[in-house]
Amino acid sequence: MKEVRITLRNAGKINPESIEDYIKAGGYEALKKAKTIDRKALIDDIEGASKLRGRGGAGFKTGLKWSGAYGVDSDVKYVVCNADEGEPGTFKDRTIIENDPHTLIEGMLICAYCIQAKECFIYVRGEYTHCIELLRKAAADAEDKGFTDGVKVNVVGGAGSYVCGEETTLLTSLEGYRGEPRLKPPFPTVAGYLGKPTVVNNVETFATVPVIVDKGSDWFGSIGAPEYPGTKLFSLSGDVKNKGVVELPTDATLRDLVEGFGGGVREGHKIKAIQMGGGSCGFITEKELDTPLDFESMRAIGASLGSGAVLVLDETHNMAEFVKGTSHFFAHESCGKCSPCREGTSRLEEAVEDILNGGDLNKNVALINKLNDVMSMSCFCPLGQGACTPVVSALKLFPEDFKAKKEA
Ligand SMILES: Cc1cc2nc3c(=O)[nH]c(=O)nc-3n(C[C@H](O)[C@H](O)[C@H](O)COP(=O)(O)O)c2cc1C
Repeated sequence: MKEVRITLRNAGKINPESIEDYIKAGGYEALKKAKTIDRKALIDDIEGASKLRGRGGAGFKTGLKWSGAYGVDSDVKYVVCNADEGEPGTFKDRTIIENDPHTLIEGMLICAYCIQAKECFIYVRGEYTHCIELLRKAAADAEDKGFTDGVKVNVVGGAGSYVCGEETTLLTSLEGYRGEPRLKPPFPTVAGYLGKPTVVNNVETFATVPVIVDKGSDWFGSIGAPEYPGTKLFSLSGDVKNKGVVELPTDATLRDLVEGFGGGVREGHKIKAIQMGGGSCGFITEKELDTPLDFESMRAIGASLGSGAVLVLDETHNMAEFVKGTSHFFAHESCGKCSPCREGTSRLEEAVEDILNGGDLNKNVALINKLNDVMSMSCFCPLGQGACTPVVSALKLFPEDFKAKKEA
């Protein structure tokens, strides 16, 4: 299976600091074309024929989201790009911005045209200082050339918290408040930034829109898996020989990615676990390598495509040790707004640590299962709801790693 570069079509071919390069490569033609099409017809085309679904994790239908904001009667609407990229093991949005910042801005301007927004925000992970500089220059250049056509594009540094990547928390942070999630509904498309209708999409989602408009929704919809068409960027890391960002059609398999591009694990070693979708997701094993890399196929095996993070671990890893790291991450990143998450993530970390220190395995496993039941039902946002997932998954697939620690 060959890499198919649609979203990354300009990567390595143009100077990301040069708007002239982007224009020479056909840049901003899709925006011009979009403006010749009726707004609602364009949204319906993106929804119906391209079937584009969000690339940030949840896989929500992009056209449906835009349609929601389009349908709300308001003089003020906003377009927000989620470039917070805090999911552990995910680095594909950074790759898009560092190679081609204008394709993201063009996608956002097409969205702004569709929903009639006059202001856009790009909320960029605070540590991505180079991306912030590139985007600020790109936005200023697009304005100088007249492409923004009265739409203001703001680039904002993120607040340094994982939960700020959750869309309602991001909006709260953007408004200048402490990053805590809001209740949904109302969804951001109805009441988002400053209470106004707002489309929030991931970098990869927006960056894919100009090609869809340029080449047609039918063309995009014909690539890859029928219900999740197009390409997807994967952040491949861990014990594979080759790590990095790879763009594959969605009918490629996990084997194409891990063995084809990753080159498999080091000689003499074997795959023990793959964490699919990011640090908040569970594990699968090499038995699942022939699963196609689309949303539905991953869901069918109980895994998640998530943000496209694929972390490969070989047999040298003890999974109890590994999930100690993930549970520490969630305890550290819990915003503290709701008590099931604030307390539960710390109890989870303590339980895993106690197992590693030789504590009572059965008692700790019972506590972890109870925390999972309570937190998945009562936490305010998906951070807490999914915090136990890696631990529960590791306990199910690799119970010996937890027992071995008790006896050691
Ligand atoms: C704890 C948490 C962190 C998240 N972090 C990100 C992130 O860094 N980037 C992102 O695009 N989406 C992130 N999301 C998903 C967003 O809430 C939202 O679904 C996404 O920005 C929508 O864009 P899309 O439809 O284009 O995927 C996160 C969700 C949760 C619950």
